[in-house]
Amino acid sequence: MLVSAKEMLTKAKAGKYAVGQFNINNLEWTKSILLTAQELNSPVILGVSEGAGKYMCGYKTIVGMVNGMLEELNITVPVALHLDHGSYDGALACIEAGFSSVMFDGSHYPIDENVAKTTELVKICNEKGISIEAEVGSIGGEEDGVVGAGECADPDECKMIADLGVTMLAAGIGNIHGKYPENWAGLSFETLDAVQQKTGDMPLVLHGGTGIPADMIQKAISLGVSKINVNTECQLAFQEATRKYIEAGKDLEGKGFDPRKLLAPGAEAIKATVKEKMELFGSVGKA
Ligand code: 13P
Repeated sequence: MLVSAKEMLTKAKAGKYAVGQFNINNLEWTKSILLTAQELNSPVILGVSEGAGKYMCGYKTIVGMVNGMLEELNITVPVALHLDHGSYDGALACIEAGFSSVMFDGSHYPIDENVAKTTELVKICNEKGISIEAEVGSIGGEEDGVVGAGECADPDECKMIADLGVTMLAAGIGNIHGKYPENWAGLSFETLDAVQQKTGDMPLVLHGGTGIPADMIQKAISLGVSKINVNTECQLAFQEATRKYIEAGKDLEGKGFDPRKLLAPGAEAIKATVKEKMELFGSVGKA
């Protein structure tokens, strides 16, 4: 059964480790992440962007697929199904479809509007026992065609949003989605520290988990980050494994064309990436 992310993140914050959110894009991706979480006895959050939601034939299809896998694969570790960077309408649609967690990304609205919309969604999520993530200070890079500059959040605005009763808070600390440019200034631990001081026990979320050096990840966890999002790294691993398979001409061997064989190396590569991240984040054995 899908669970809200609240309990796993409260435990992570108290235990000074982070739960990974791994974004899913298809069936193979989802299965690889769930099998790895179960093998490592780690809690996990499956992230779904609105674009991936459309690609996978809508939120109801995804809920059906994930619930089916939990049963068929005998997954017993805590699993949350979470909307990533949701719009207000997207969050409502996911709540309706059976997601156990949503993110409302109101960071591009003026703070008053972010507060108003987050407040409404907090009320609905609380009634249904669904966890909710809010964002302050936009995360840089490109996410579903939306390019942000990577700001540092205002700690007072973070407190304002945290006080609305959200489950977890994503605060921009110079992190960006996708690969980091050569001249990236690194995470602003000063901002993170100030946000953590203002928001106390609130689990903080680090987006853009791809390519952040291990020491920075560990420092961020020590300063209150208890959820880390990873997407691009799984995509790159999948792409590289598939490319090698095609270049070796293996897709042309045998009779006919078998999509299951073509996707298998990518699925294995995702397992390896997820394992590496769970070990780095310290969530292994914490289910
Ligand atoms: P990356 O694609 O940089 O791993 O970021 C993922 C993310 O933050 C999803 O919200």
